[in-house]
Amino acid sequence: MKIAVVGTGYVGLVTGTCFAETGNQVICVDIDERKVEKLNNGIIPIYEPGLDVLFYRNVEEGRLKFTTSLIDGIKGAEVIFLALPTPPGEDGSADLKYILKVASDLGPILSQYVVVVDKSTVPVGTAEKVRAHIAEHAQVEFDVVSNPEFLREGVAVEDFMKPDRVVIGTRSDKAKSVMNKLYAPLVRQGNPVIFMDERSAEMTKYAANAFLATKITFMNEIANLCEKVGANVDDIRRGIGTDSRIGKRFLFAGIGYGGSCFPKDVQALAKTAQEYHYDFKVLESVMTVNNLQKTKLLPQIKDYFGDDLKGKTFAIWGLAFKPYTDDIREAPALDNIKALLAEGAKVTAYDPEAMDNVRNILGTQINYAHTQYAALDDADALIIMTEWPLFRTPDFEKMNLLLKNKVIFDGRNVYELETMAEMGYTYYSIGRQAVKSQQ
Ligand code: UDX
Repeated sequence: MKIAVVGTGYVGLVTGTCFAETGNQVICVDIDERKVEKLNNGIIPIYEPGLDVLFYRNVEEGRLKFTTSLIDGIKGAEVIFLALPTPPGEDGSADLKYILKVASDLGPILSQYVVVVDKSTVPVGTAEKVRAHIAEHAQVEFDVVSNPEFLREGVAVEDFMKPDRVVIGTRSDKAKSVMNKLYAPLVRQGNPVIFMDERSAEMTKYAANAFLATKITFMNEIANLCEKVGANVDDIRRGIGTDSRIGKRFLFAGIGYGGSCFPKDVQALAKTAQEYHYDFKVLESVMTVNNLQKTKLLPQIKDYFGDDLKGKTFAIWGLAFKPYTDDIREAPALDNIKALLAEGAKVTAYDPEAMDNVRNILGTQINYAHTQYAALDDADALIIMTEWPLFRTPDFEKMNLLLKNKVIFDGRNVYELETMAEMGYTYYSIGRQAVKSQQ
């Protein structure tokens, strides 16, 4: 099939590349000339494991192309994906200006029946708005379908190629059969394509993200209570996760969820609820708790060092909002760094992928180390913000020589309490009792 993907951000690039991999002719369109030039020169603007292999193969075989011209990009396309940004507006609702602009531009240039697909996470009712914007100047028949994307950064290619499910919102049989054909290679293992109306598909995406954010937040609150009552949240997680009604995943307590989706989507859903005069109390609490959770380690740091952190140096391992990405959007590490700097402390950070992105925001306000160990040199303590595998089994002997104090504040529960106690570390983590070294 011939496919156009408008918007070469995270979702657009993965969508385009993966559909090329299943044998389609894909043209990706973006208004950013520099980005398109880079892509045409084989430079992938995001870090996503596995994407490069597929990208280079499909570019080489002529199935994946990039252009800044919408009219050239959509020529002959049977499906046009809209993978455009929906940034939160000032009031927290998703801003649709990019999507609706492209929809208006599409109307007059469509020359045959086409399925226009909303891939971006968009509020309920957007498919109807997109349809209306296209229809204003369209001379041909078309359908607008809502097909939300559930991929996770870091495993996006795998999520795309082997989706748990594909949700397609349309009431048009013609569009259904086009979408079925397109997704057939991805659901061979029996995972379902679930058809529903457009509004339900749009709502499904928000419900999924809000539910997962709530699951994490619930665990974070259980963790906070565990610390008070003397229980261990790791055991609680194992104890409840084995109940198939609850499930094992997304029960890891930590310093809160971040990233480009959960915070934005929870906020947008809360905004939708407000617009419809529904008081969605759970969501409001999720947002409040997550904001508090992000800097949860700060009181523990003060518990150890006292209230005055002036002149103390903290090594930070991990800046990305989660492992296997260089994405620092809404990353708890940033909130913690800002809080530490505000207290007059110094920060030396290390992250395997995200340091350039942080440098663009924080510049020389913090130091950047070339290795995880270099970050520890002369530091008063180590703080772990992202659970990169590299940090799970470090060379503790090397660490002992570099750190001024054997103390770790762990926002991701990377180590076992027993190991820390055996090695004589003072160790603060989330939802578990602090290990206090006698040294
Ligand atoms: C998420 C959804 O999973 C995906 O389906 C959607 O399309 C986009 O948003 P992503 O933001 O890439 O994907 O990351 P995800 O792996 O879901 O993690 C989100 C946040 O939750 C991270 O900050 C992570 O650290 C946190 N998290 C996750 C926890 O704190 N505990 C957990 O148990 C799981």
